Amino acid sequence: KCTMAPQSRFDCARDRVLSKRQCEERGCCYAPLPNSVGPPWCFYPSLYPGYKLGPLTPSKRGLAATLTRAKPSYLPRDISTLRLEIIEETTGCLHLILKDPSSQRYEVKLPADVPKSRADNSDVLYTTEYQSDPFGFIVRRKSNGRTIINTTVGPLLFADQYLQLSTTLASSLVSGLGEHYTSLLLDLNWTSLTLWNRHMAPHAHANLYGSHPFYIVQEADGLAHGVFLLNSNAIEVTLQPTPALTWVSTGGILDLYFFLGPDPQSVIRQYLQVIGHPMMPPYWSLGFHLCRWGYTTTNTTRKDVQWNDLDYADKQRIFTFDPRRFGDLPEMVEEFHRRGIKYILILDPGISSTSPTGTYPPFDDGLKRDVFIKNVTGHILIGKVWPGPTAFPDFTNPETRQWWEDCIRGFHSKVPVDGLWIDMNEPANFVQGSMEGCPHTDLEDPPYTPRVVGGELNSGTLCMSAQQRQSTHYNLHNMYGLTEAYATNRALTKVRGKRPFVLSRSSYSGIGRFSGVWTGDVRSDWEQLRFSIPAVLQFSLFGVPLVGADICGFEGNTTEELCVRWMQLGAFYPFMRNHNDNFNAPQEPYVFEQEAQAAMRSALNLRYSLLPFLYTLFHHAHTSADTVARPLFMEFPTDPNCQTIDRQFLWGSSLLISPVLEQGSVKLTAYLPFGIWYNLHNGQPFYSKGQYLLLSAPLDTINVHVREGHIIPQQDPALTTTASRRNPFFLTVALSAGGWAWGDLFWDDGDSLDTYKTQDYCYVIFTAGQSQVVSDPLMLNGALDELVLGGLQVFGVPSPPRYVLANGEKVSDFTYHSDTKVLTVTKLTLPMSKVFTVQWA
Ligand code: NOJ
Repeated sequence: KCTMAPQSRFDCARDRVLSKRQCEERGCCYAPLPNSVGPPWCFYPSLYPGYKLGPLTPSKRGLAATLTRAKPSYLPRDISTLRLEIIEETTGCLHLILKDPSSQRYEVKLPADVPKSRADNSDVLYTTEYQSDPFGFIVRRKSNGRTIINTTVGPLLFADQYLQLSTTLASSLVSGLGEHYTSLLLDLNWTSLTLWNRHMAPHAHANLYGSHPFYIVQEADGLAHGVFLLNSNAIEVTLQPTPALTWVSTGGILDLYFFLGPDPQSVIRQYLQVIGHPMMPPYWSLGFHLCRWGYTTTNTTRKDVQWNDLDYADKQRIFTFDPRRFGDLPEMVEEFHRRGIKYILILDPGISSTSPTGTYPPFDDGLKRDVFIKNVTGHILIGKVWPGPTAFPDFTNPETRQWWEDCIRGFHSKVPVDGLWIDMNEPANFVQGSMEGCPHTDLEDPPYTPRVVGGELNSGTLCMSAQQRQSTHYNLHNMYGLTEAYATNRALTKVRGKRPFVLSRSSYSGIGRFSGVWTGDVRSDWEQLRFSIPAVLQFSLFGVPLVGADICGFEGNTTEELCVRWMQLGAFYPFMRNHNDNFNAPQEPYVFEQEAQAAMRSALNLRYSLLPFLYTLFHHAHTSADTVARPLFMEFPTDPNCQTIDRQFLWGSSLLISPVLEQGSVKLTAYLPFGIWYNLHNGQPFYSKGQYLLLSAPLDTINVHVREGHIIPQQDPALTTTASRRNPFFLTVALSAGGWAWGDLFWDDGDSLDTYKTQDYCYVIFTAGQSQVVSDPLMLNGALDELVLGGLQVFGVPSPPRYVLANGEKVSDFTYHSDTKVLTVTKLTLPMSKVFTVQWA
């Protein structure tokens, strides 16, 4: 019973170190190894006694059964009877719930119901099997019999504050389980990842700002599946090389979703059907954002910036502005708006609680309306953040959301901000728990505390026993940022009547519906530059496409070279913001030498020229749960070389971005999957067999390749997105070996609410083949009127054309390069809202 290979051991002493005797008292095996790291010494024997499965009977939504355990486990407040429910939600999604039938436990409720997808479970992709004693279940992929989940390898434990479930993994290629400072593929060599939102600068082995209890596994043959544990308590996931994984949660229920794909992108779609599709961002929010902590006055802000950090606030209190340094803030914002520039400022959730009564309405009103989180005795919990002592709004309370909206409305009537940046919302607290500490209860000090920074759940945040409308902070902590993002999104929508922009630091599954996310306080160094790619890609997998890292780095002084390379990579973050810490050397593009400035300008121009394409990708993310920044494995799942790549990434399915990530490098080796890839800058083709290529990358260059068969809609860049949007379009047409290509454009006013739902948009598809490009406007609402196609570049035209016709008429402004085989047509004025044809022969 105890003879399994060390790598197949499942830890029986996760909660504390056990001696041989204590281990055996638990009925576990004890077999020391030379190393204390690696496989556990105290581990479960096979068939460790646990729950026994009763008969499976049909229920309202699927099958149900009762599980009972004869003997209590070694955990306090064991729950001896459980209700199992199995629901075949859709063809690709299986749902399994385990909870206490006799008492209502806390269950996650995502804000604003996610629209239910139509049940379509005609021919499901999975089969299930059950082991009855001890209970375990197996999920297999029906098409090939592959085991996706097998929980019979370890016991199911379900006590009040300790839930545990182990499973084998179908492969070692696992991604997700954010937010951590990791590569795209997780390390399975006896590692653990804790999901507990924490104000913590990104570094390895630490729980960071967000929690996403979701992982995706790449299977051997290019198929993929995903698993989501809908649970918001503190979670620790242990990964071991078996390969296997163990979930431990400190509360709630086991609410598990299995997504069978079968391809990686379908896995993400199935996940997003449960947590919600991402919002459609305003067009302007895809432009370049400039920010820093330390623009101490409107005058310094006026130089250029669109954002203000806490500097604007009077005594660091939100919803006020400093009368001396920011007295003309309203005028400044009006001026920005006249120049086509948008303005965003920061809000921290902590509401200053020590201003004299009558002088700070957000707190006075909040008190009256009872919107703040209480401590266990029913008094308002006071913590400490930038303004000093603060109370924390409870965003699970509808009245709080209304109060928040009123505060935003009042402030907006003076300072008409375009979007809001919600920071410190883990929530961060500079004292542990509260100014008065926390009571000694099982919530503060549970039987098992996952490995968290600070050692205790209430480190750097509120007391676990704090009371919120929906439940205790112990249960709701990981959802604080999500609930604030929801309230802020809703408030901005109501106050401005336009598409809201919210950027949040803390996150939980589903936040992409309301907000973008940035990756927090990254250091200005090359390693952090590199890790920003897997960070961004993981948020893509979590349904948060609007994501980016602080360009040039936040903590510490940047260097010119690092900042240039970061601006180049950042030009391909879906959300592009240069942001800097207080007191650091400035890093706005204009502070650098001419050569660096030119390199940054060219990266910015490249991004701005691609905005129509980027916006169209966001449309597909919003409507079809596609990813925007995309890992290579999602697009080329059967190419084993793509499984691990996280130094390059794609935009949609057609642009491959290969940035320089090393100091001093002016070349890099990049992987190009099978097919023709055209250098976006000059159309030079490369016929890849699926191979690495040495690319030249002088300081002014970021390598971007267009995949054969795709058409990229672009526009001449201008200084602002508003001006860019009025410029002529051009198409980059990357012909396939057979001479074909396809692309599309989603276009609306960029700012109105729900334009897709109300069908207030344009949608045009472009096809190339047989020596011509044709547009097909499938949907028109007037947004493209007045806009023209000014030109196009066709990559891969085999021989020099004798003439070019636009809508049947000869045009003279075209060139052909026989070395690169690029045809360029300029000075066209074809209306975008009409069918057009450009032919060459
Ligand atoms: C922490 C945030 O992560 C950072 O971006 C911000 O500048 C500071 N708080 C100050 O508000």
